[in-house]
Amino acid sequence: MKALCWYGKNDVRVETVPDPQIINPHDAIVKITSTAICGSDLHLYNGYIPTMQKGDILGHEFMGEVVEVGKEVKKLKVGDRVVVPFTISCGQCFFCQRELWSLCDNSNPNAWMAEKLYGYSPSALFGFSHMLGGYAGGQAEYARVPFADVGPLKLDNGGLTDDQVLFLSDIFPTGYMAAENANIEPGDTVAVWGAGPVGQFAIKSAYMLGAEQVIAIDRFPERLRLAETEGKARTINYEDTDVVEELKSLTGGRGPDSCIDAVGMEAHGTSPVAMLDKAKQMAKIETDRPNALREAIQACRKGGTVSVPGVYGGFIDSMPMGAIVNKALTLKSGQTHMQRYMRPLLERIQNGDIEPSFIITHHMKLEDAPNGYSMFRDKEDECVKVVLKP
Ligand SMILES: NC(=O)c1ccc[n+]([C@@H]2O[C@H](COP(=O)([O-])OP(=O)(O)OC[C@H]3O[C@@H](n4cnc5c(N)ncnc54)[C@H](O)[C@@H]3O)[C@@H](O)[C@H]2O)c1
Ligand SMILES: [Zn+2]
Ligand SMILES: [Zn+2]
Repeated sequence: MKALCWYGKNDVRVETVPDPQIINPHDAIVKITSTAICGSDLHLYNGYIPTMQKGDILGHEFMGEVVEVGKEVKKLKVGDRVVVPFTISCGQCFFCQRELWSLCDNSNPNAWMAEKLYGYSPSALFGFSHMLGGYAGGQAEYARVPFADVGPLKLDNGGLTDDQVLFLSDIFPTGYMAAENANIEPGDTVAVWGAGPVGQFAIKSAYMLGAEQVIAIDRFPERLRLAETEGKARTINYEDTDVVEELKSLTGGRGPDSCIDAVGMEAHGTSPVAMLDKAKQMAKIETDRPNALREAIQACRKGGTVSVPGVYGGFIDSMPMGAIVNKALTLKSGQTHMQRYMRPLLERIQNGDIEPSFIITHHMKLEDAPNGYSMFRDKEDECVKVVLKP
């Protein structure tokens, strides 16, 4: 089959690789009909996630048709149409039983690698380094889906297109959990750093959960425009103004009730401290650039909540811990507990509460994925989200 493989920093290639096979009776094989490129894939593409190996198949946002099932699979059958969550969960362990799906204790065969870095391992993820399981991803014609009775969301063939449901595989639940983690109460003001796909879904979700006003922060005009027109957010271009001061002035001096960091480890910035992060990251003495996170902590009102869907991989410096303690902030984060959200959010789509395809700017063939990666990274052609068709 054809698959998009990682070969190193800024080097991904579509290659012919062996078809995946059932290796465990709980596996299913899915023939992929649509798959997307995520901001998380950029962390791999830009070389910031350790334990990648040449030839690894990328991709964790995918859906398709079940073409084979292992003999222990009970809930899926050949021909079913499914969206596959990006996290891999066993359904049985302490964490899965408590619906903390992205913390599954059983899905990562390389848990020891993550334990070195984090103390304990989170769940495995599709196409996301050997430290997180070494599972082949879904930017391919086929994928092996382990624990097939636990992850995939089965769809009726009831008229929803791939473009409408594909983002149930990650970014819609991720934006929603980010908003849920933000402890939003009716009347609240919520600020969202990053108007990328995750930020856009966080904006919409914040309104669904009762926010009065959402303020989006980015520097790309087309992304800010989308946050205004689709998300009904007020916007701040951080290149034109001091974000923390502007947020204070928009909230009567108090600061937003909740701040969401939908940027993560590759934040852009030109302040001295941001430049220092960049230099330290290049010298490999700081793994992540936490510029947006620092701003979110600084701007958040006393007693407020900072929610962090943005991915961080390792260690950050100059963490404003004093602000967290002295302003009594709540900090919440995590890879998304996908199975909590997939079905309820599918119902939101079916009810017409949201039309997730608003985010798509580019459709491409899988063969063109290397172009898609560079275009998405550089925001060329006003690229916000690329959907690949194998
Ligand atoms: N927690 C999860 O389960 C989960 C799931 C999916 C994605 N993510 C993470 O969410 C983050 C966003 O993903 P995405 O797909 O939207 O990526 P993206 O790269 O398309 O968007 C990031 C946006 O942040 C903006 N940005 C950069 N620096 C900024 C700054 N200092 N202030 C404000 N905005 C800034 C960029 O201009 C860009 O528009 C990534 O870190 C990704 O890994 C997490
Ligand atoms: Zn993703
Ligand atoms: Zn589990």
